[in-house]
Amino acid sequence: MPALIPRVLLTLAACKLVAAAPSLTDILSNHANLTQLNNLLMNQSSDFLKSLQGQTDITFLAPNDHAFLGIPDTDVLAPAFQNKDYAGDITNILKYHVLPGQHPSSSLSRNGSFQFLPTLLTDGNWSDVTGGQRIGAVLQGDDPPLMVFTSGLSTRSAVTEQDVDFEGGIIQIIDNFAIPPMPFVYTVDQYNLAFEAQGMLSFLGAVYSIPPINATTASLPRYLNETRDLTLFVPSNLALEYVSGTLETLSPAALNDILSYHILGPNTGGPIYSSDFINQTQLPTLQGSNITLTFTSNSYFVNSARVIAADILIKNGVMHVLDNVLSPNHTGIRGLNATTYTQAPVLPTTFPAGQALNSSAAPYTTFVPDFYVSVSSISDVVVQTETTAGGGGGQSTAFATASSTGKHKKSAAGSLCHGAEGSGWLGANMGVAVVVTVAGGVFLL
Ligand SMILES: *[C@@H]1O[C@H](CO)[C@@H](O)[C@H](O)[C@H]1NC(C)=O
Ligand SMILES: *[C@@H]1O[C@H](CO)[C@@H](O)[C@H](O)[C@H]1NC(C)=O
Ligand SMILES: *[C@@H]1O[C@H](CO)[C@@H](O)[C@H](O)[C@H]1NC(C)=O
Ligand SMILES: *[C@@H]1O[C@H](CO)[C@@H](O)[C@H](O)[C@H]1NC(C)=O
Ligand SMILES: *[C@@H]1O[C@H](CO)[C@@H](O)[C@H](O)[C@H]1NC(C)=O
Ligand SMILES: *[C@@H]1O[C@H](CO)[C@@H](O)[C@H](O)[C@H]1NC(C)=O
Ligand SMILES: *[C@@H]1O[C@H](CO)[C@@H](O)[C@H](O)[C@H]1NC(C)=O
Ligand SMILES: *[C@@H]1O[C@H](CO)[C@@H](O)[C@H](O)[C@H]1NC(C)=O
Ligand SMILES: *[C@@H]1O[C@H](CO)[C@@H](O)[C@H](O)[C@H]1NC(C)=O
Ligand SMILES: *[C@@H]1O[C@H](CO)[C@@H](O)[C@H](O)[C@H]1NC(C)=O
Ligand SMILES: *[C@@H]1O[C@H](CO)[C@@H](O)[C@H](O)[C@H]1NC(C)=O
Repeated sequence: MPALIPRVLLTLAACKLVAAAPSLTDILSNHANLTQLNNLLMNQSSDFLKSLQGQTDITFLAPNDHAFLGIPDTDVLAPAFQNKDYAGDITNILKYHVLPGQHPSSSLSRNGSFQFLPTLLTDGNWSDVTGGQRIGAVLQGDDPPLMVFTSGLSTRSAVTEQDVDFEGGIIQIIDNFAIPPMPFVYTVDQYNLAFEAQGMLSFLGAVYSIPPINATTASLPRYLNETRDLTLFVPSNLALEYVSGTLETLSPAALNDILSYHILGPNTGGPIYSSDFINQTQLPTLQGSNITLTFTSNSYFVNSARVIAADILIKNGVMHVLDNVLSPNHTGIRGLNATTYTQAPVLPTTFPAGQALNSSAAPYTTFVPDFYVSVSSISDVVVQTETTAGGGGGQSTAFATASSTGKHKKSAAGSLCHGAEGSGWLGANMGVAVVVTVAGGVFLL
């Protein structure tokens, strides 16, 4: 300790006594809950760490040790870590955790509305969303409100420690990795299993049941897979089951019209997240006719179908689940009723009276493709994981390397001055006692 003091004083002199926000490495190497992230960034992903160190105005969602424990249980992350693809997949997963600009908890509204914030994930194998793949952010509850991020497959990452200042911006420490939004087919398949009441396999099967109209027109599957900034309103399995008798009498061209009336056309100015919904707006569909958004009964409706699940993020945009099938022949807002959530289907129902709806009996599911969309190496691996599903033990073993713990010391010299290059944050903290962490100890300046 006596040897350290003169060095600290020297360093402070060189800094002209300007208080410093800690560097990213200061925080990583000293935080008891960030040991795994510190290992990863110091060792395998040091290039990514360097790229962060050059940033001056970012929000970094830092997965804590609990988040690393959860990796073996995730389809998307586990293969990336098993493959040790640090330069590729893992870098892209980490980029999804970096947001341009500073997003403290105070920047989110307390009314429970989501924001969809751009991230640094722009690699074409991972994102077809203009401006960087989005992540949802919201405050939940009060006193104090919990900051929550939502990502692909409706994954929830709660912030365990909010608004940690560092020289490059703000760190939000999260208890779960965010999952980059995955392709449409894969997401529908996964979502169907996890949230059966809002299952969408029936719509997926219907899309795959229609042959391409002609050689020059992209088939719906291709459109959904390849269109950038896509917005999809997907009727639930139950919604399709309810009118299945009518749908099955339609020609392929009429069914194509119905389905493409649930898909917004290109040039809508980016995916339309729930935060972009505006009462009484019309949006153009791929089919050609408009749909109308209406806010009533505390819900958004598309024509007269209620949005029962919003903002399921996919690689190339966003999906919202509806409780009724839409038709371009019924564009009106039919029977909206402020006292009930459920509106009458616009297509004739042929469902026998008294028979209970059963999502498992929804139509078209035999057309669901038995392959997963493969747009990046990680999706290829997911296929392998799926086909060998059944034993999670192997994954845990394979992952042991990445989850081994380690304790690290940072060098005190040098890092103390980094914050002097920062701007606004320093001014705001002038005159206040500033805590600087040095080689495991704490100095009050
Ligand atoms: C990096 O790897 C080395 C060797 O495997 C290990 O001793 C160390 O704890 C790891 N973590 C850091 C932050 O250096
Ligand atoms: C919630 O607050 C945000 C930001 O103040 C605002 O844009 C949004 O319209 C509000 N939403 C509701 C439902 O009041
Ligand atoms: C560490 O992480 C755990 C699990 O996410 C959380 O419960 C705990 O509050 C965290 N501790 C600190 C000091 O942030
Ligand atoms: C293909 O179908 C589209 C949409 O119905 C139509 O506009 C186009 O003229 C058709 N092309 C050919 C070559 O038939
Ligand atoms: C809409 O109505 C027209 C005229 O009755 C009919 O030809 C067409 O098939 C209908 N389209 C759908 C999707 O029901
Ligand atoms: C569709 O909506 C746009 C506004 O988004 C409007 O200009 C257009 O007239 C609408 N088309 C029809 C047929 O109502
Ligand atoms: C939305 O528009 C409908 C139809 O004009 C209206 O009845 C309703 O009050 C509006 N909702 C809000 C929240 O303004
Ligand atoms: C709205 O729903 C309530 C409850 O189901 C029903 O009593 C009422 O008649 C409905 N009103 C309209 C206009 O459909
Ligand atoms: C729904 O259908 C599935 C498959 O046909 C059947 O196994 C299940 O018991 C049914 N559920 C209900 C609630 O009827
Ligand atoms: C989606 O597009 C990618 C890239 O073009 C292609 O590799 C993949 O096979 C397509 N998948 C489907 C289901 O069309
Ligand atoms: C996207 O994936 C393909 C196939 O795995 C690979 O060859 C290509 O380099 C990747 N592109 C980028 C930008 O990483």
